[in-house]
Amino acid sequence: MTDPAAGKTTRPPVSSSNNRRGDGHDQAAAMDSMYRFTRHIYDLTRRYYLLGRDRLLERVVTGPETATLEVGCGTARNLIKLAGRPVCGRLYGLDASHEMLETASRSVTRAGLPRGGNPPIVLRQGLAEQLDAGRMFGRDELFDTIFFSYCLSMVPTWPGALEAAVNNLKPGGRMLIVDFWDQAELPAVFAAGLKKWLSLFHVHYRPELHAAIAALGDAGNAEVQFESIHHRYAYLATVTKLATDPLP
Ligand SMILES: C[S@@+](CC[C@H](N)C(=O)[O-])C[C@H]1O[C@@H](n2cnc3c(N)ncnc32)[C@H](O)[C@@H]1O
Repeated sequence: MTDPAAGKTTRPPVSSSNNRRGDGHDQAAAMDSMYRFTRHIYDLTRRYYLLGRDRLLERVVTGPETATLEVGCGTARNLIKLAGRPVCGRLYGLDASHEMLETASRSVTRAGLPRGGNPPIVLRQGLAEQLDAGRMFGRDELFDTIFFSYCLSMVPTWPGALEAAVNNLKPGGRMLIVDFWDQAELPAVFAAGLKKWLSLFHVHYRPELHAAIAALGDAGNAEVQFESIHHRYAYLATVTKLATDPLP
């Protein structure tokens, strides 16, 4: 298979579907319906409450040959920031929503990417839990970094998404996750209001997801670190896959 981001094909950065009806179609349809209109004001509005995204990007190590994937890339805001680095390596985005990817594709073009010899950002439609570096992106190798930015809190099948990300990460590679935390250090009335508001958007803080990320470290095959973003408004998890046996 070819690697479009490596420049072996001339395929433009458009999305392509690998969803099968009846197999994750509901989540893709739900995301399309949620973002059909809001995608046009998404970047403007979300900058005020999707905190910690830039801190996550600071943790992404890029080099000439690195491959970085954002799962649930939305409008490609994060990937476009990475593409602005002098050396960004190969950048990939996966999202369930065709609607979001349309905006992402436009934003990539508007940003004038690729420039300075950087390869294009490759965008694909598909589900996090079905991530497959070869089938979806034509890659022969796994990824150096896979990150989720405010994505897993809206994925009902998050255990599959977590497992697929770990399986598609090179030994020594890094998985980064920024997402809503429990707001335990913020005023209770703020925390309760935020939870209610987020649930309108199918977004839920899941303590069991937090525990599952921590458990990746307990098995001894990964190192896991959590940082608090703004008094536990959100967390940033760094999971480094150790160069030993694959994670369970
Ligand atoms: C809150 S947005 C975050 C977008 C972007 N990561 C950011 O930081 O601005 C969550 C994104 O996850 C996508 N998403 C939700 N469920 C998904 C799934 N199962 N697989 C892939 N993407 C999914 C949505 O379509 C949406 O674009």
